[in-house]
Amino acid sequence: MPRDVAILVGSLRRESFTRKVAKSIAAMGGDKLAFRFVEIGALPLYNQDLETDAPPAEWVKFRDALRPAEAVLFATPEYNRSVPGVLKNAIDVGSRPYGKSVFQHKPAAVVSVTGGALGAFGANHHLRQSLVFLDMPALQQPEMYIGGVAKLLDQQGEVGNEDTRKLLQKFVDAFAGWIETNKR
Ligand SMILES: Cc1cc2nc3c(=O)[nH]c(=O)nc-3n(C[C@H](O)[C@H](O)[C@H](O)COP(=O)(O)O)c2cc1C
Repeated sequence: MPRDVAILVGSLRRESFTRKVAKSIAAMGGDKLAFRFVEIGALPLYNQDLETDAPPAEWVKFRDALRPAEAVLFATPEYNRSVPGVLKNAIDVGSRPYGKSVFQHKPAAVVSVTGGALGAFGANHHLRQSLVFLDMPALQQPEMYIGGVAKLLDQQGEVGNEDTRKLLQKFVDAFAGWIETNKR
C-alpha cells in the first residue's frame, strides 16, 4: 500500500506556481506514495476563543483530513522572506487543541517555490522552525528550493525541465525512504 501523504500548498492563487510544482511532485509517487491535496484557503484565522466543543466546521474538516495522513509535504512560496500567512494559519489550526495536533510525529518534507533567484530559502527555513516545534521529522536532503520557476514549466503548467524533473524525483524517492525510516 502506498503511504498516504497530505500536501499543503501555501498559495491560494489560481495560477499558483507552487501548486503547479506540487502537482508535478504528486504524480511522481509511483507505488510508494499516494499524494492528496488538503485545502487551506477557507480556514478561519486561528483564534483560541473558538477552540470550544464546537470549533469552526472548516477547522474540523481540515483536522479530519490531516489526521489519517502518514506524512505531510509542505509546498510553499515565499512572502516577505517567510511563509505566507495562510500556510502558517493552517499549521496553527492543525496543531491545536493542545495535545491533539494532527501533525505530531508525521514525517515531513518542504519544497519552496519562487519566480525569484533565491529559491524561497527564507520561507523554507522559517517553515522548518515550526516543524521542530510540531515534532515532525523533516527530510534534510535533498533540499528543494525551486527558483526561476516560470521557465521550468511547460505549456500544460507541469514541470517540463528535465533536470528539475530528475531533481524532484530524487526528492520524492528520498521522502519515501524518509517516511519508512521515521514512521511511528
Ligand atoms: C506579499 C508578497 C510577498 C512576496 N515576497 C517574496 C519574497 O520574499 N521572496 C520571493 O522570492 N518572492 C516573493 N514574492 C513573489 C512570489 O514569489 C510570487 O508572487 C510567487 O508567484 C508566489 O507563489 P505562487 O505563484 O505559488 O502564488 C512575494 C509576493 C507577494 C504577493
